[in-house]
Amino acid sequence: MDVYIKVEGLTVSYSKNGSPVFKDLDAEFYKGEMVLIMGPNGGGKTTFLKSIVGLVYPVSGSISVLGRDPFRDLEVRKLIGYVPQVNEMNIYAPLTLWDLVSLGRYPHLGIFKRFSGEDESKVSEAIEKVGLTKYVDYKVSELSGGQLRRGLIAKALAQDPLIYLLDEPFESIDYVSEEVILKVLGEERDRGKLIIIAEHHLTETGHLDRIVLFRHGIIKSGKPDEILTEDVLRLAY
Ligand SMILES: Nc1ncnc2c1ncn2[C@@H]1O[C@H](COP(=O)(O)OP(=O)(O)O)[C@@H](O)[C@H]1O
Ligand SMILES: [Mg+2]
Repeated sequence: MDVYIKVEGLTVSYSKNGSPVFKDLDAEFYKGEMVLIMGPNGGGKTTFLKSIVGLVYPVSGSISVLGRDPFRDLEVRKLIGYVPQVNEMNIYAPLTLWDLVSLGRYPHLGIFKRFSGEDESKVSEAIEKVGLTKYVDYKVSELSGGQLRRGLIAKALAQDPLIYLLDEPFESIDYVSEEVILKVLGEERDRGKLIIIAEHHLTETGHLDRIVLFRHGIIKSGKPDEILTEDVLRLAY
């Protein structure tokens, strides 16, 4: 199996003397798998995703993304479609849905930031895949919560990354939007992409290849039916 992300001995702390969010964490994630990182709030899921993208610097340990170091090699970040938790974003920016999804293409543009026909078709295909073609000229602030989530997934799709890191994509979302997002992500997984989803509670598990139970480190990792038992879940919640 191709290892897309390899984490070794990772320790992250936000304060010099306080206890770390997690320490000595080892993990591997593979091409073509959809993984749920699941655990209670405050357990460090967001911190873990941010350290993979290179947004939080570790105290010690190493992270390799596609064989490269995300802290030194900014090019590798193009290959990661990171969708933060909605509460970390400014959704009042005066953007249309088209503008939002277009942002996914920016890492690929040349120095003049000019859109090519290929960039435009990637944006419109992504919007179509999440079923929002009708809303392309809507302001982001006019979309429903579920439509906004779909728009954010479309932005990641337009980026055409090898790895998706999605922080709570299903938090307070409507059923239809959840289904659309799971279907689209399932298709990306089937094309060989690595999909990592962080959630504090369980969502639909049918599409998942693996669940990583997470609370200040990895408590257990396995197939959904190995993790979704009362005895195992009790270790984290
Ligand atoms: N920017 C930050 N500065 C200081 N502490 C933080 C910061 N972000 C998160 N934390 C703390 O790190 C711990 C893990 O938080 P987080 O990674 O957000 O967990 P989760 O995503 O599982 O809810 C929590 O105790 C949280 O308060
Ligand atoms: Mg979080």
